[in-house]
Amino acid sequence: MKVGIYPGSFDPMTIGHLDIIERAAKLVDKLVVAVLINPNKRQGLLDHESRKVALEGATKHLPNVEVVCFTGLLIDYAKEINASVVIRGIRSGKDLDMELGMAQINKQLGGGLETIFLMTAPEYACISSSVVRELIAFGGDYSAYVPESVYKQLKKY
Ligand code: PNS
Repeated sequence: MKVGIYPGSFDPMTIGHLDIIERAAKLVDKLVVAVLINPNKRQGLLDHESRKVALEGATKHLPNVEVVCFTGLLIDYAKEINASVVIRGIRSGKDLDMELGMAQINKQLGGGLETIFLMTAPEYACISSSVVRELIAFGGDYSAYVPESVYKQLKKY
């Protein structure tokens, strides 16, 4: 069984993330969407459990997708769950520059752990968690940038 892992901060998840999840779920038998618990990062918008709940709600229609929280190195967690491929979305050349280094380290130290980059759909290229956080902070309309179930959850913030 081919297991893929799609790691990220997902604070909060966007429709761009959902698009990547839906496409990645077709490439592997099982896709584990893994929310990083980073003890060095200050508290974001959502706590990790809320990020997980958001992802679970928005991916209910995808039977081969599981959402987890993890901490530590991605290569260690990937090994623990038998994932052989990491999925990452790429919105721009800037993203690619950042991701290449991470993918190379993960391959070198992770026993050949591969990374597949999926190009973000052009209509989602400008959407990011940080843009959504900023819109929330200043009262902007972000409803088109997150899945409907996540919008309902976020309206509380
Ligand atoms: O959504 P993000 O914040 O761009 O995701 C970054 C993430 C979680 C994929 C990356 O920071 C990561 O894999 N962190 C786990 C720790 C790790 O393995 N770091 C070494 C990477 S070379």
